[in-house]
Amino acid sequence: MNLPRLNTLAAATLLACAIATPALAQSGQKLKVGLMLPATGTFAALGTAIENGFKLYVAENGGKLGGREIEFVNVDDESDPSKATDNINKLIKRDNVDVVVGTVHSGVAMAMAKVAKDTGTLLIVPNAGANAVTGPMCAKNIFRSSFTNAQPGYAMGEVLAKKGIKRVVTITWNYAAGAESVGGFKEAFEKGGGKVVEELGLPFPNVEFQALLTQIASIKPDAVYTFFAGGGAVKFVKDYAAAGLKTSIPLYGAGFLTDGTLAAQGEAAQGIQTTLHYADSLGTPRDMAFRTAYATTYKLQPDVYAVQGYDAAQILGIGLAATKGDVKNKDAFAAAVQKATINSPRGPFKMSPTHNPIQDFYLREVKGNENRVIGIASKSLIDPGRGCRM
Ligand code: PHB
Repeated sequence: MNLPRLNTLAAATLLACAIATPALAQSGQKLKVGLMLPATGTFAALGTAIENGFKLYVAENGGKLGGREIEFVNVDDESDPSKATDNINKLIKRDNVDVVVGTVHSGVAMAMAKVAKDTGTLLIVPNAGANAVTGPMCAKNIFRSSFTNAQPGYAMGEVLAKKGIKRVVTITWNYAAGAESVGGFKEAFEKGGGKVVEELGLPFPNVEFQALLTQIASIKPDAVYTFFAGGGAVKFVKDYAAAGLKTSIPLYGAGFLTDGTLAAQGEAAQGIQTTLHYADSLGTPRDMAFRTAYATTYKLQPDVYAVQGYDAAQILGIGLAATKGDVKNKDAFAAAVQKATINSPRGPFKMSPTHNPIQDFYLREVKGNENRVIGIASKSLIDPGRGCRM
């Protein structure tokens, strides 16, 4: 009989075509992006800015990346490391996402990186700076669009040493981000001839700063270096001023101290100098276009978190364009991202071999509602990615 033979042939041809052309981009199948970000707690506003930035880039590209329409699934990670493994597993196993984008908190991100590495799921980290993510936990399928915790601290360590400041007290939350930020600061500051005379800390996300501020007043250092962010940063800056320290002991920090927080900090933040890979006054055509689009879409001014979210989407777009929408083609995805120059509002950057941005760190000073650039603290700073074997 001819008919069955023809049918078998036709089926075989169809199958061969399907294997030869993965063509996910043409198949009309949507790409599921799992957004694992804080929607509650001290980092809630940071999560919103990242999501806004990511969605702005997708919208600018007609709702598609690499030819595939994007669909979102959200999880509120509450910045709680103890829930992180369950939360990311839900996205991967229950919701079958193709890629996870998250998160803000370093402790949560480390748990996510472990799952991403074990399952081979594509992970793009749009904030959390945990050194381990692009160090010992690095993987071909893990990328970061933000920074490593040591970077802004290192840049500020160089600045304060050059200013001739000698004795500094550090204060932060006792968790990976705080410890690594202070670690970066201390490395550069002490290399430049300064001394960290006391390292103060409190558990995340506590904001009972009074006893520690009293200690700072009694030590009388030349300056204070700090890592706080989000709601905690708002309260710290206000409490520091209210304790009368602002005029006697200058306060410096990683730029998160004053990013996305200025409206709430008001007068207490004026004049504070920080180091970060973004500022409100870059004035480049690229940044101005981004800021206008963001402000028009969300009726809000963008901040560093919005930029990092936007660039996470750019990284995904670059990888998907090279793989015709196939996130499973990890080699081609990683090669394309590695080769690319990412056209970020912060300034163009390339990825390091361990998948962290190589970028300039600006010295900024708060004036009104802006973190104004007053110089470049560290040029093309690269994350050493210690312990990474890819
Ligand atoms: C972190 O936990 O890595 C972290 C959190 C908030 C920031 C920066 C880093 O603003």
